[in-house]
Amino acid sequence: MDKYVIQGGARLVGRVRIAGAKNAALPILAATLMTDQECVVEGVPELQDTATMLEVLRSLGMEVSREGSAVRTRLVNEDLSTAHYDLLSTMRAGFCVLGPLVARRKRARVSMPGGCNIGPRPVDIHLRGLTRLGASLVVEHGYVAAEADRLVGAEMFLGGAQGSTVLGTANILMAATLARGTTVLEGVAIEPEVQDLARFLVCMGAHIDGIGTHRLEVEGVEALEGTRYRIIPDRIEAGTFLVAAAITRGDVEVENTQPEHLTAVLEFLRERGVTVEKSRAEMKIRARVERELVPGDVFALPYPGIPTDMQAQLMALLCTIEGTSTVHDKVFPDRFIHAGEFIRMGARIAKENGSATVQGGPPLSGAQVQASDLRAGAALVLAGLAASGTTELSRVYHLDRGYVRFESKLAALGARIQRARA
Ligand code: EPU
Repeated sequence: MDKYVIQGGARLVGRVRIAGAKNAALPILAATLMTDQECVVEGVPELQDTATMLEVLRSLGMEVSREGSAVRTRLVNEDLSTAHYDLLSTMRAGFCVLGPLVARRKRARVSMPGGCNIGPRPVDIHLRGLTRLGASLVVEHGYVAAEADRLVGAEMFLGGAQGSTVLGTANILMAATLARGTTVLEGVAIEPEVQDLARFLVCMGAHIDGIGTHRLEVEGVEALEGTRYRIIPDRIEAGTFLVAAAITRGDVEVENTQPEHLTAVLEFLRERGVTVEKSRAEMKIRARVERELVPGDVFALPYPGIPTDMQAQLMALLCTIEGTSTVHDKVFPDRFIHAGEFIRMGARIAKENGSATVQGGPPLSGAQVQASDLRAGAALVLAGLAASGTTELSRVYHLDRGYVRFESKLAALGARIQRARA
């Protein structure tokens, strides 16, 4: 297992290019199961999670090849319909092959995802939605077995206790594109990654109205076609580098980004005193610190709010700002394991149900810490960049799931970070 060794204190300066969005790539790759024609998906980031998804597709009878960021898929054997635990246990997004498989192959056996370090991750809404489309489902021996001769359009509400669901919307939307008749989905997630999936499906020949709103109307079609498509840039990777600029009081420009996907994060950084400039046409955002930053409150919410996937990184930043800040996660109220690791680095954080109070100001000091999940890991790297002395971050495999060449991109901006054997 690898670790990162970080010498804190360097101010990050320069430009960094953002990769394609992991969370758009994963369901879009799953959607290629729904056609017997060739698909080419461009902008697929070279990450552990996308590699796992390509393995899942191969295990389901797809021929898959990759040239740089372009992935080519083609169906060779449609008899396979089991997505195994060995692959899906490492990546929850694999669960969104369920909708495509049952819609096109009429049956599926897909490993149930387990819990994870960001809290309980139920799939009740996915299962409810597929049942409403007429699939018969049995959960046994850790797998969901689903069958349907042909799915039938239905009207349904896709929200839950925490609001909309990203992968739940993806699963049901994909299934509905091949159902007989009209499906109306209310309360759907509108994250840019879900919109990107919907646009990909439209390129495959799906009929979807209402993309970008909480109500999708889908007119089912008999078959979907192959297509060529470029996925959106990763807004969380971009946001993470902007916070890296802020936490090191540096000056960083992120390239290949869509500023309109980061409005709430940019607003939050501006309110803290960070100078933010953006150009939608040039797909750039520059963040630099020219004055003392001020504390503030983070509310992680479904899109267009601050993403839960930025909550940990923003908490790291708030630890370095004098005064009292609070952090609330309305999407994953238990996603606070990183707070304990920040405390090991000298942060003052009090945690209570679904929120944390940060008394920022005391300098962070480098320590041995662990990444409990992908975003917690990124946040600990940021904290290490701002801390005095050496931070050793273990369980770096979490970061390899979601950030392309993270340490070399940071090093190119002046960070003193190295990968080493743990
Ligand atoms: N929920 C339910 N029932 C369900 C599904 C979800 O109650 O059937 C609840 C969840 O427990 C949570 C809330 O709904 O409280 C939202 O969860 P959601 O389903 O939207 O999460 P997800 O689709 O499993 C995706 C991303 C996550 C990101 C969340 C929230 C992918 C592959 N994953 O997960 O990304 O945090 O949406 O935006 O798209 C990451 O990239 O590090 C990551 C964890």
